[in-house]
Amino acid sequence: MKNILLAGGAGYIGTELCKRLLRLDYQITVIDDLWFGNNLDPAIKLIQKDIFKVNYKDLEGFDIVIFLAGVSNDPMAEFSPSENFIQNAACPAYLSYESKRAGVKRFIYGSSCSVYGYTVDELYDENSPTTCAYPYGISKLQGENGVMQLADEQFSVISLRQGTVCGYSDRMRFDLVINTMFKNALMHGEITVNNPSIWRPIFHIQDACTAYIRAIQAPDNISGVFNVASDNYTLGQIGDVVSVEMSKLLNKEIKVHINDVKDFRNYKVSIQHAKLTLGFTPIYTVKDIIHDLFQKTSNITNLEDEKFYNIKVFKSLGKI
Ligand SMILES: NC(=O)c1ccc[n+]([C@@H]2O[C@H](COP(=O)([O-])OP(=O)(O)OC[C@H]3O[C@@H](n4cnc5c(N)ncnc54)[C@H](O)[C@@H]3O)[C@@H](O)[C@H]2O)c1
Repeated sequence: MKNILLAGGAGYIGTELCKRLLRLDYQITVIDDLWFGNNLDPAIKLIQKDIFKVNYKDLEGFDIVIFLAGVSNDPMAEFSPSENFIQNAACPAYLSYESKRAGVKRFIYGSSCSVYGYTVDELYDENSPTTCAYPYGISKLQGENGVMQLADEQFSVISLRQGTVCGYSDRMRFDLVINTMFKNALMHGEITVNNPSIWRPIFHIQDACTAYIRAIQAPDNISGVFNVASDNYTLGQIGDVVSVEMSKLLNKEIKVHINDVKDFRNYKVSIQHAKLTLGFTPIYTVKDIIHDLFQKTSNITNLEDEKFYNIKVFKSLGKI
């Protein structure tokens, strides 16, 4: 049975991934500083610790280390660019270095399609230029470069460039594009689309967990960078699906406000490499995300609680 460490595993993606890994009977441990609290299944071994305080001795005996930590969106990165570069560039490089030193066999890095920046209507693959010019995207690419350069025959490194992850997690976020639209439709009966022509790869959180599982299960000799997403959509398309589905679910018309706000991110990606090499095939759509959210968030009384918005929690942590 593989022994897996999830660094940052108490976050939005990690909390759901842990549930999936438990079902597959992997032995899992989470190291996390619990910026957003702890919503993990009590069956999971949790060590509350800053990753910078972990060294190779703590990592001995693990087969796989997964990096899901760091500063996970643009507002956090722009609020504190220095903390962003420390957490997103230095932290994964440090942890992968210590992992290799400890004899870990594989390091999986939670990268982002944000590295592509602003593209002009082309389908980007992993060899396309990375033109991001803002703190979050730059730092995710730096983190990726830091971990990838350690790959060799004994140490596999897989970087998953994820699209925008959406859907329900026991550690919920309502600051991700579809989750925000869902929340606004539910609470205010209307949604806002800031720029309908902008492209985004969207990733149902359960497809995202599947991508990590395929990376865990890939043959030992596989290393590389992989785009992973459920599909590419314009924000206008997403707004249409949210409006139609939420109108049906709530039995009232959900209005869509269209703005023309400039965005510095616009990209759509090819996931062929992940399909062919990792055997990753997404199975969910935006409609599935809406239904997943609708079914699972009924127990949340206040969807506007600060704890669901990373930037609000991050500011209160005094990380500057
Ligand atoms: N959510 C998305 O849409 C998305 C898209 C692309 C890439 N990613 C990347 O995937 C990863 C996970 O994203 P998420 O949405 O689950 O993030 P999240 O913000 O919900 O969780 C991050 C977790 O990491 C922990 N953490 C951060 N720095 C730490 C440190 N130094 N020591 C210990 N714990 C630390 C936090 O306490 C938190 O539990 C991130 O690296 C993010 O950049 C996320």
